[in-house]
Amino acid sequence: MKTAILGTGNIGTAIAQGLLKGTLTAPEDLICTVRSPASLERLRQILPETVRLSHDNVEAVRQSRLVFLAVKPLLVETVIEEISPYLTSDHLLVSVAAGVTFEDISGFIGKKGDSISLFRLMPNTALSVSQSVTLLSVRKISEDSEGFDFIRHLFDEMGICFPMPESLMAAGTLLTSAGIAFALRYVRAATEGGVALGFSPGIAKQLVIYTVFGALGLLLAHGSHPEEEIDKVTSPGGITIRGLNAMEEAGFTAAVLAGLRL
Ligand SMILES: NC(=O)c1ccc[n+]([C@@H]2O[C@H](COP(=O)([O-])OP(=O)(O)OC[C@H]3O[C@@H](n4cnc5c(N)ncnc54)[C@H](OP(=O)(O)O)[C@@H]3O)[C@@H](O)[C@H]2O)c1
Repeated sequence: MKTAILGTGNIGTAIAQGLLKGTLTAPEDLICTVRSPASLERLRQILPETVRLSHDNVEAVRQSRLVFLAVKPLLVETVIEEISPYLTSDHLLVSVAAGVTFEDISGFIGKKGDSISLFRLMPNTALSVSQSVTLLSVRKISEDSEGFDFIRHLFDEMGICFPMPESLMAAGTLLTSAGIAFALRYVRAATEGGVALGFSPGIAKQLVIYTVFGALGLLLAHGSHPEEEIDKVTSPGGITIRGLNAMEEAGFTAAVLAGLRL
Protein backbone atom coordinates (compact mmCIF):
# COMPACT_ATOMS: atom_id res chain seq x y z
CA MET A 1 0.00 0.00 0.00
CA LYS A 2 1.32 3.48 -0.89
CA THR A 3 2.33 5.01 2.42
CA ALA A 4 3.30 8.48 3.63
CA ILE A 5 4.97 9.36 6.92
CA LEU A 6 4.44 13.03 7.71
CA GLY A 7 7.10 14.08 10.23
CA THR A 8 9.89 11.52 9.97
CA GLY A 9 11.73 12.23 13.23
CA ASN A 10 12.50 9.69 15.98
CA ILE A 11 9.29 7.73 15.84
CA GLY A 12 8.59 8.35 12.13
CA THR A 13 12.04 7.00 11.24
CA ALA A 14 11.52 3.93 13.44
CA ILE A 15 8.17 3.34 11.67
CA ALA A 16 9.82 3.76 8.24
CA GLN A 17 12.60 1.33 9.11
CA GLY A 18 10.13 -1.16 10.60
CA LEU A 19 7.88 -1.00 7.52
CA LEU A 20 10.85 -1.61 5.24
CA LYS A 21 12.03 -4.59 7.31
CA GLY A 22 8.53 -6.12 7.07
CA THR A 23 6.91 -7.80 4.09
CA LEU A 24 4.10 -5.33 3.30
CA THR A 25 5.84 -2.12 2.21
CA ALA A 26 8.25 -1.74 -0.72
CA PRO A 27 10.73 1.19 -0.49
CA GLU A 28 9.32 2.75 -3.67
CA ASP A 29 5.84 2.80 -2.05
CA LEU A 30 7.04 4.97 0.85
CA ILE A 31 7.22 8.78 1.02
CA CYS A 32 8.70 10.45 4.12
CA THR A 33 8.42 14.14 4.89
CA VAL A 34 10.33 16.41 7.25
CA ARG A 35 10.57 20.17 7.71
CA SER A 36 14.29 21.00 7.52
CA PRO A 37 16.90 20.26 4.82
CA ALA A 38 19.20 18.86 7.54
CA SER A 39 16.60 16.23 8.52
CA LEU A 40 16.04 15.36 4.87
CA GLU A 41 19.79 14.80 4.47
CA ARG A 42 19.85 12.64 7.63
CA LEU A 43 17.08 10.44 6.18
CA ARG A 44 18.93 10.20 2.87
CA GLN A 45 21.85 8.63 4.74
CA ILE A 46 19.79 5.98 6.53
CA LEU A 47 16.89 5.02 4.25
CA PRO A 48 17.16 3.15 0.92
CA GLU A 49 17.48 5.56 -1.99
CA THR A 50 14.19 4.42 -3.57
CA VAL A 51 12.26 5.81 -0.58
CA ARG A 52 10.99 9.25 -1.63
CA LEU A 53 11.94 12.10 0.72
CA SER A 54 10.17 15.42 0.63
CA HIS A 55 9.12 18.60 2.41
CA ASP A 56 5.74 18.46 0.65
CA ASN A 57 3.04 16.96 2.89
CA VAL A 58 0.28 17.63 0.37
CA GLU A 59 1.99 15.74 -2.45
CA ALA A 60 2.78 12.88 -0.05
CA VAL A 61 -0.90 12.62 0.89
CA ARG A 62 -2.05 12.81 -2.72
CA GLN A 63 0.21 9.91 -3.65
CA SER A 64 -0.60 7.64 -0.69
CA ARG A 65 -3.49 5.73 0.85
CA LEU A 66 -2.00 5.07 4.27
CA VAL A 67 -0.87 8.29 5.99
CA PHE A 68 1.05 8.32 9.29
CA LEU A 69 1.02 11.59 11.15
CA ALA A 70 4.18 11.59 13.30
CA VAL A 71 4.81 15.25 14.10
CA LYS A 72 4.90 16.58 17.66
CA PRO A 73 1.40 16.87 19.19
CA LEU A 74 1.44 20.69 19.02
CA LEU A 75 2.00 20.56 15.23
CA VAL A 76 -0.82 18.12 14.47
CA GLU A 77 -3.39 20.86 13.91
CA THR A 78 -1.15 22.79 11.47
CA VAL A 79 -0.28 19.72 9.42
CA ILE A 80 -3.89 18.47 9.30
CA GLU A 81 -5.11 21.89 8.17
CA GLU A 82 -2.51 21.76 5.39
CA ILE A 83 -3.50 18.28 4.16
CA SER A 84 -7.22 18.16 4.90
CA PRO A 85 -8.37 19.51 1.48
CA TYR A 86 -6.61 16.50 -0.08
CA LEU A 87 -7.86 13.79 2.29
CA THR A 88 -10.48 11.48 0.77
CA SER A 89 -12.66 8.71 2.19
CA ASP A 90 -10.13 6.25 0.74
CA HIS A 91 -7.34 7.45 3.06
CA LEU A 92 -6.36 5.70 6.29
CA LEU A 93 -5.09 8.46 8.59
CA VAL A 94 -3.01 7.15 11.49
CA SER A 95 -1.93 9.56 14.22
CA VAL A 96 0.90 8.63 16.59
CA ALA A 97 0.68 11.94 18.48
CA ALA A 98 0.36 11.27 22.20
CA GLY A 99 -2.73 12.78 23.80
CA VAL A 100 -4.36 14.01 20.56
CA THR A 101 -7.85 12.50 20.50
CA PHE A 102 -10.09 11.41 17.61
CA GLU A 103 -12.33 14.32 18.47
CA ASP A 104 -9.37 16.73 18.15
CA ILE A 105 -8.28 15.24 14.83
CA SER A 106 -11.77 15.18 13.39
CA GLY A 107 -12.24 18.80 14.45
CA PHE A 108 -8.95 19.81 12.76
CA ILE A 109 -10.06 18.07 9.53
CA GLY A 110 -13.35 19.97 9.59
CA LYS A 111 -16.50 19.03 7.65
CA LYS A 112 -14.99 15.93 6.03
CA GLY A 113 -13.75 14.70 9.43
CA ASP A 114 -16.50 12.11 9.80
CA SER A 115 -15.83 10.40 6.47
CA ILE A 116 -12.10 9.71 6.96
CA SER A 117 -10.89 6.44 8.53
CA LEU A 118 -9.00 7.56 11.63
CA PHE A 119 -6.62 5.52 13.76
CA ARG A 120 -4.48 6.26 16.80
CA LEU A 121 -1.30 4.30 17.17
CA MET A 122 1.06 4.20 20.14
CA PRO A 123 4.26 2.26 19.58
CA ASN A 124 7.05 2.23 22.15
CA THR A 125 10.76 2.81 21.57
CA ALA A 126 11.41 -0.93 21.12
CA LEU A 127 10.02 -0.34 17.62
CA SER A 128 13.61 0.24 16.51
CA VAL A 129 14.45 -3.38 17.46
CA SER A 130 11.16 -4.79 16.10
CA GLN A 131 9.87 -5.53 19.61
CA SER A 132 7.38 -2.73 20.11
CA VAL A 133 4.19 -3.16 22.07
CA THR A 134 1.95 -1.05 19.83
CA LEU A 135 -1.55 0.06 20.81
CA LEU A 136 -4.02 0.60 17.98
CA SER A 137 -7.33 2.37 18.28
CA VAL A 138 -9.87 2.92 15.51
CA ARG A 139 -12.60 5.52 15.59
CA LYS A 140 -15.84 3.57 15.89
CA ILE A 141 -18.02 5.67 13.64
CA SER A 142 -15.77 5.08 10.64
CA GLU A 143 -14.78 1.51 11.54
CA ASP A 144 -12.61 0.22 8.74
CA SER A 145 -11.83 -3.41 9.41
CA GLU A 146 -9.73 -3.87 6.28
CA GLY A 147 -7.56 -0.87 7.15
CA PHE A 148 -7.46 -1.88 10.82
CA ASP A 149 -6.33 -5.43 9.99
CA PHE A 150 -3.67 -4.12 7.61
CA ILE A 151 -2.22 -1.66 10.13
CA ARG A 152 -2.36 -4.28 12.89
CA HIS A 153 -0.52 -6.73 10.67
CA LEU A 154 2.13 -4.08 9.85
CA PHE A 155 2.85 -3.53 13.56
CA ASP A 156 2.66 -7.23 14.45
CA GLU A 157 5.67 -7.47 12.14
CA MET A 158 7.46 -4.93 14.37
CA GLY A 159 6.61 -6.58 17.69
CA ILE A 160 3.04 -7.08 18.90
CA CYS A 161 0.03 -4.87 18.24
CA PHE A 162 -2.95 -4.69 20.62
CA PRO A 163 -6.36 -3.26 19.66
CA MET A 164 -7.30 -0.69 22.29
CA PRO A 165 -10.43 1.38 22.90
CA GLU A 166 -9.54 5.07 22.80
CA SER A 167 -10.65 5.40 26.43
CA LEU A 168 -7.71 3.15 27.45
CA MET A 169 -5.04 4.73 25.22
CA ALA A 170 -3.60 6.97 27.97
CA ALA A 171 -3.51 4.11 30.49
CA GLY A 172 -2.01 1.78 27.90
CA THR A 173 0.64 4.37 27.05
CA LEU A 174 1.67 4.56 30.70
CA LEU A 175 1.97 0.78 30.91
CA THR A 176 3.78 0.26 27.58
CA SER A 177 5.64 3.45 26.57
CA ALA A 178 6.57 4.74 30.02
CA GLY A 179 6.73 1.04 30.91
CA ILE A 180 10.02 0.78 29.02
CA ALA A 181 11.52 3.27 31.50
CA PHE A 182 9.94 1.53 34.48
CA ALA A 183 11.31 -1.88 33.46
CA LEU A 184 14.75 -0.39 32.85
CA ARG A 185 14.78 1.19 36.33
CA TYR A 186 14.55 -2.36 37.74
CA VAL A 187 17.45 -3.37 35.49
CA ARG A 188 19.48 -0.36 36.68
CA ALA A 189 18.72 -1.01 40.35
CA ALA A 190 19.54 -4.73 40.11
CA THR A 191 22.77 -3.90 38.27
CA GLU A 192 23.79 -1.56 41.10
CA GLY A 193 22.95 -4.35 43.54
CA GLY A 194 25.15 -6.70 41.52
CA VAL A 195 28.07 -4.27 41.76
CA ALA A 196 27.53 -4.07 45.53
CA LEU A 197 27.75 -7.88 45.58
CA GLY A 198 31.17 -7.74 43.90
CA PHE A 199 30.57 -7.90 40.13
CA SER A 200 31.93 -5.39 37.62
CA PRO A 201 29.18 -3.08 36.25
CA GLY A 202 29.40 -4.65 32.78
CA ILE A 203 29.02 -8.22 34.04
CA ALA A 204 26.34 -7.24 36.55
CA LYS A 205 24.30 -5.61 33.76
CA GLN A 206 24.63 -8.69 31.52
CA LEU A 207 23.62 -11.03 34.36
CA VAL A 208 20.53 -8.91 35.07
CA ILE A 209 19.52 -8.47 31.41
CA TYR A 210 19.68 -12.19 30.67
CA THR A 211 17.95 -13.07 33.93
CA VAL A 212 15.05 -10.74 33.14
CA PHE A 213 14.98 -12.10 29.59
CA GLY A 214 14.78 -15.68 30.96
CA ALA A 215 12.08 -14.73 33.48
CA LEU A 216 9.95 -13.27 30.68
CA GLY A 217 10.65 -16.35 28.56
CA LEU A 218 9.23 -18.55 31.36
CA LEU A 219 6.03 -16.50 31.52
CA LEU A 220 5.58 -16.52 27.76
CA ALA A 221 6.39 -20.24 27.33
CA HIS A 222 4.27 -21.46 30.26
CA GLY A 223 1.49 -18.87 30.12
CA SER A 224 1.86 -18.84 33.91
CA HIS A 225 1.18 -16.18 36.55
CA PRO A 226 4.41 -14.51 37.78
CA GLU A 227 3.78 -15.85 41.31
CA GLU A 228 3.83 -19.47 40.03
CA GLU A 229 7.33 -18.95 38.62
CA ILE A 230 8.34 -17.11 41.82
CA ASP A 231 7.21 -20.09 43.92
CA LYS A 232 9.47 -22.39 41.88
CA VAL A 233 12.60 -20.47 42.94
CA THR A 234 11.57 -19.73 46.51
CA SER A 235 12.82 -22.30 49.06
CA PRO A 236 11.54 -22.08 52.63
CA GLY A 237 13.88 -19.89 54.66
CA GLY A 238 16.14 -19.31 51.63
CA ILE A 239 17.76 -16.26 50.07
CA THR A 240 14.91 -15.64 47.57
CA ILE A 241 12.17 -15.23 50.18
CA ARG A 242 14.46 -13.08 52.34
CA GLY A 243 15.21 -10.89 49.30
CA LEU A 244 11.54 -10.65 48.29
CA ASN A 245 10.47 -9.73 51.81
CA ALA A 246 13.18 -7.09 52.10
CA MET A 247 12.06 -5.57 48.77
CA GLU A 248 8.41 -5.50 49.90
CA GLU A 249 9.38 -3.94 53.25
CA ALA A 250 11.09 -1.21 51.22
CA GLY A 251 7.84 -0.67 49.30
CA PHE A 252 8.51 -2.41 45.96
CA THR A 253 4.90 -3.22 44.92
CA ALA A 254 3.57 0.00 46.42
CA ALA A 255 6.20 2.00 44.50
CA VAL A 256 5.28 0.34 41.18
CA LEU A 257 1.55 0.91 41.77
CA ALA A 258 2.23 4.55 42.68
CA GLY A 259 4.13 4.99 39.39
CA LEU A 260 1.27 3.50 37.40
CA ARG A 261 -1.25 6.22 38.16
CA LEU A 262 -2.49 8.66 35.54
N1 LIG B 1 9.39 9.24 20.84
C1 LIG B 1 8.56 8.32 21.33
O1 LIG B 1 8.93 7.41 22.09
C2 LIG B 1 7.12 8.32 20.89
C3 LIG B 1 6.35 7.16 21.11
C4 LIG B 1 5.05 7.17 20.65
C5 LIG B 1 4.53 8.30 20.03
N2 LIG B 1 5.28 9.42 19.86
C6 LIG B 1 4.69 10.56 19.18
O2 LIG B 1 5.40 10.70 17.96
C7 LIG B 1 5.34 12.07 17.54
C8 LIG B 1 6.72 12.49 17.11
O3 LIG B 1 7.62 12.38 18.19
P1 LIG B 1 9.18 12.29 17.89
O4 LIG B 1 9.83 12.01 19.18
O5 LIG B 1 9.41 11.37 16.74
O6 LIG B 1 9.45 13.82 17.43
P2 LIG B 1 10.63 14.39 16.48
O7 LIG B 1 11.82 13.49 16.54
O8 LIG B 1 10.79 15.83 16.82
O9 LIG B 1 10.03 14.25 15.01
C9 LIG B 1 9.09 15.12 14.48
C10 LIG B 1 9.40 15.28 13.02
O10 LIG B 1 8.38 16.10 12.47
C11 LIG B 1 8.98 16.90 11.46
N3 LIG B 1 8.11 18.03 11.18
C12 LIG B 1 7.87 19.13 11.93
N4 LIG B 1 7.01 19.93 11.30
C13 LIG B 1 6.70 19.32 10.14
C14 LIG B 1 5.86 19.65 9.05
N5 LIG B 1 5.13 20.78 9.03
N6 LIG B 1 5.77 18.80 8.02
C15 LIG B 1 6.49 17.64 8.01
N7 LIG B 1 7.31 17.28 9.00
C16 LIG B 1 7.40 18.11 10.05
C17 LIG B 1 10.30 17.29 12.06
O11 LIG B 1 11.15 17.70 10.99
P3 LIG B 1 12.51 18.52 11.30
O12 LIG B 1 13.41 17.51 11.96
O13 LIG B 1 12.97 18.89 9.97
O14 LIG B 1 12.12 19.65 12.20
C18 LIG B 1 10.73 15.99 12.73
O15 LIG B 1 11.47 15.22 11.81
C19 LIG B 1 4.82 12.87 18.74
O16 LIG B 1 3.52 13.30 18.45
C20 LIG B 1 4.84 11.89 19.90
O17 LIG B 1 3.75 12.13 20.78
C21 LIG B 1 6.59 9.43 20.25
